[in-house]
Amino acid sequence: MKRFFDLSAAICALVILSPVLLLIALLVRLSLGSPILFRQDRPGFKGNLFTCIKFRTMTDARDEFGELLPDAQRLTPLGRFLRNTSIDELPGLINVVRGEMSLVGPRPLLPQYITRYTSAQMRRHDVKPGITGWVQINGRNALDWNQKFALDNWYVDHRSFWLDLRILAATVWQVFKRDGIAQPGHATMPEFLGTNPRCKKAVTQPTRIIVVGAGGAAREIVSALDSINKIEQRFEFLGYVVSDLSRLQPRDSREQVLGDFSWLQANRNSFDALAIGVGFPASRLRLAAELRHFLPEVEWPSIIHPTAIIDLDSARIAEGCFIGAGVTATVNITLEAFVLCNFGCTLGHEARIGAGSVVNPGANISGGVVISTGVLVGTGSQILQYLHIGAGATVGAGAVVTRDVAEGVTVLGVPARPRALDEPLSSIQQEQHQAHF
Ligand SMILES: CC(C)(COP(=O)(O)OP(=O)(O)OC[C@H]1O[C@@H](n2cnc3c(N)ncnc32)[C@H](O)[C@@H]1OP(=O)(O)O)[C@@H](O)C(=O)NCCC(=O)NCCS
Repeated sequence: MKRFFDLSAAICALVILSPVLLLIALLVRLSLGSPILFRQDRPGFKGNLFTCIKFRTMTDARDEFGELLPDAQRLTPLGRFLRNTSIDELPGLINVVRGEMSLVGPRPLLPQYITRYTSAQMRRHDVKPGITGWVQINGRNALDWNQKFALDNWYVDHRSFWLDLRILAATVWQVFKRDGIAQPGHATMPEFLGTNPRCKKAVTQPTRIIVVGAGGAAREIVSALDSINKIEQRFEFLGYVVSDLSRLQPRDSREQVLGDFSWLQANRNSFDALAIGVGFPASRLRLAAELRHFLPEVEWPSIIHPTAIIDLDSARIAEGCFIGAGVTATVNITLEAFVLCNFGCTLGHEARIGAGSVVNPGANISGGVVISTGVLVGTGSQILQYLHIGAGATVGAGAVVTRDVAEGVTVLGVPARPRALDEPLSSIQQEQHQAHF
């Protein structure tokens, strides 16, 4: 029934709207050049990728690192108009005819979000994505991600033909009202980096958490959990697990070690969340990938020591991060998943730290610095403003970095220079490196 309705309505709409579509295509061609259509892989039904089609609304302007500029700087006046009126979505009717989308369903989001969803958030992929949906008529981009995912799940649970008709009618009304297109301060939605640690669940029970690793970094996490609990009982620390019991070091916390990863599998119902207490970037990423694979439903809360001073209103912090005591971070910082910011480090405005990277105690990351995935920033080092540190690089303790650092390179000293024995990565190594991250 739904497929029949989608197909017939989409074909009719394409025929009736064809003069408008041709006119828009011409306007886009004249103002933005070609291509006229924007094609992007998006996860659809069951998370399978399909190529989503829209009219192009943004230029491809990039900064000096080849990173695309913020949405606001790339959106043209015509693009803004097409978005405000939702006309940019009309080519999606072709996706409907192809059976990749429905007229009504949760909006298809970006492929990288798939690995960031909790299992509850993933339920939005139990139905085909839609051109419009329950979210679009209930506030659209004026909502935060948690609110949107809750509405998506409501739609999945309550979907019916009549609900779809109601959503389609309300969408037409919304488009004329031109309401709720962008979030305040963002030209479009901010990136979804995983569930924000500040969006506290209305929990009555503290989260039962286990720390992976039993060394210094692990003990620092446990100390932060204690400090958080003094303010509000949010966590119940159960103990440590390690990947290999035979490799426990004399200085590791032996008494509270519950076991190795097989213990986690055997006792899945006794804990809610995990935190990675290992201070080596490649190990953080490997452990996160391994544990997420065999424990897909476990939570990875980001843990922020109460003495850290962070502008949380503008910060974007993905899951599994740890921010230690006395860390200071100013505006608009971004931490991707599983970042460790150790005690007393500082992060300047717009600093961006890639997944699994470790910023060691007292390191100073200046404003606008971009650190890629799997980087180790040594104790007390300084990275000057707007520099770029490549994936897998190491900044030695005490170094003062004054230039960009290439992938996989170790830099030492003041000013920091590549360590003599570091050859640039071969192309095969680079591929392995990228596959790893
Ligand atoms: C850069 C680093 C990873 C190199 O480690 P490594 O590969 O084991 O190197 P080694 O210790 O064998 O030292 C190799 C050489 O580099 C020198 N070196 C090492 N680290 C250095 C540093 N940070 N600055 C200047 N020189 C350094 C050593 O003196 C040695 O020189 P030599 O051959 O003339 O004697 C490490 O020294 C470092 O700085 N790690 C960060 C530590 C940290 O932040 N810990 C925080 C824990 S909370």
